[in-house]
Amino acid sequence: MTESTSSGKFITFEGVDGCGKSTQAEKLVEKLFEIDISAVTVREPGGDPISESIRKLLLHAEESMSDRAEALLMISSRAQLTDKVILPHIINGKWVVADRYADSTLAYQGGGRGLSVNALDEINNFGTYTLKPDITFFIDVPIEKADERMSVSRDRIEKEGLNFQQRVRDQYLTIHAKDPDRVVLINGEQSIDKVFEDVWSAMKEKFSL
Ligand SMILES: Nc1ncnc2c1ncn2[C@@H]1O[C@H](COP(=O)(O)OP(=O)(O)O)[C@@H](O)[C@H]1O
Ligand SMILES: [Mg+2]
Repeated sequence: MTESTSSGKFITFEGVDGCGKSTQAEKLVEKLFEIDISAVTVREPGGDPISESIRKLLLHAEESMSDRAEALLMISSRAQLTDKVILPHIINGKWVVADRYADSTLAYQGGGRGLSVNALDEINNFGTYTLKPDITFFIDVPIEKADERMSVSRDRIEKEGLNFQQRVRDQYLTIHAKDPDRVVLINGEQSIDKVFEDVWSAMKEKFSL
């Protein structure tokens, strides 16, 4: 059995709130099922009971949270999800589609909050057990556009405003520029179907589907 049929793959979606990650992750899992590839989605932060508890703390905490506490909670939630959910699935041959992963910490707590991206990168390596996505889709939209698409109910981080979101988007662009082989930039201003065409075409090329 070749490596590609025995072990699962790890695919992540990244981008600012409202860019279309959840929409595309769902479409990707459906498409993979159609070609008999068993895939699961996970969401960040969250994905298992402990991670979901951390998610509640992170997104709805009433008290003001220190930037570093926020970063470490994000990464601890990721460690839990990686160890208990993502790695076991991959070992069992499932393809895992993650709605956000380590790049989100670099973009939000690094770009958005201004914490050291190098420091975050190291803590991310620890928290992810050094797992790296096989491919990452960065769905890029101007923040005003993403903002228009967002529903009225926003969590604590989504309420940070346009300047914050702009720094997040800029950091994602930097991440793409540093690692264009892994991070595929997709124009998220297109229709949902057209965005998915681009996602699927990159999937076919990457995994010879
Ligand atoms: N390409 C697109 N064009 C127009 N609307 C979109 C597009 N992609 C997603 N949407 C809509 O925008 C909103 C946010 O999309 P969602 O997938 O939840 O974004 P995210 O998960 O990145 O926050 C949803 O109402 C969704 O239907
Ligand atoms: Mg979403």
